[in-house]
Amino acid sequence: MEKSEQGLRHFLSIEDLSTDTLTALLHRTLALARGATARRTEKTVANLFFEASTRTRVSFELAAQALNARVINMEMARSSTVKGETLKDTAATLKAMGVEALVVRHPETGAVQALADELLMPMHLINAGDGHGGHPSQALLDAATLEASGLDWPNATLAIVGDLRHSRVARSGLQLFERLGLGQVRLAGPESMLPDWDTAPNVVLVHSLEDAVRNADAVMMLRVQHERIDQTAWPDPESYAAHWCLRPSHLERARPDCRVLHPGPINRGMEIESAVADGPQSLILEQVRMGVFARTAIFEWLLA
Ligand code: NCD
Repeated sequence: MEKSEQGLRHFLSIEDLSTDTLTALLHRTLALARGATARRTEKTVANLFFEASTRTRVSFELAAQALNARVINMEMARSSTVKGETLKDTAATLKAMGVEALVVRHPETGAVQALADELLMPMHLINAGDGHGGHPSQALLDAATLEASGLDWPNATLAIVGDLRHSRVARSGLQLFERLGLGQVRLAGPESMLPDWDTAPNVVLVHSLEDAVRNADAVMMLRVQHERIDQTAWPDPESYAAHWCLRPSHLERARPDCRVLHPGPINRGMEIESAVADGPQSLILEQVRMGVFARTAIFEWLLA
């Protein structure tokens, strides 16, 4: 749903947004990263994070400040939700005080869409990650990072490796990269973490990290989403690291300029070795930097 029944825009999922909108947001993100000045707004936004977050929460806050918006960071553990207030009542309460947009991260898949469907007062919603559902602003910043690195989308091969099944980053990323015409995607991870969702025809499953990175132009490593996994169904940390931790020797199989991405937070020695995470091919901190511009572009599109 790009627009609510009241005609207000939301940023809820990649699927809901037109390719024109997504392309415009991507170009605006890159222009902001090159130094364009953000449009100004007097509006007030609130961050409602029901899950831990460093990058996403702080970058939404900095993005709001870049637009001169007022920003409220709710401390959900100290808010009235602990007294049983529903999310829709919290939203209406904030709107009554003048908050125009909510950035919501929630452990339940579909929670932000559900809020959009039952809003008591018209306001803009941004999905900052819902369970294993989607993380569309992460997809935008990842696409902007790849575009800025000079990725030749139609001729590129991207490997996404790790806990695909529980990854909202991978789901939203794949949806956006397909719209941008990415050539080939290889997915790899332990059997119990392979996707249980549908993939596009240009996506292939491979069975090892070595096969995933062969001649790849970019590799995106994923964190094991412990918080979303039945612990009995996942490999022990040593065997996970032995098979799925990205090391310099893997990168030797990839293209010489292969970019390395990870949405963070990284677990060094588990998904990625320090030599790679801190190495010259790593774009991890560039992703973090781009996150502020992507979120500024999203706020502009919604508010300014
Ligand atoms: C991701 C998330 O929370 O979905 N991180 C992020 O937003 N930067 C991925 C993760 O937690 O592994």
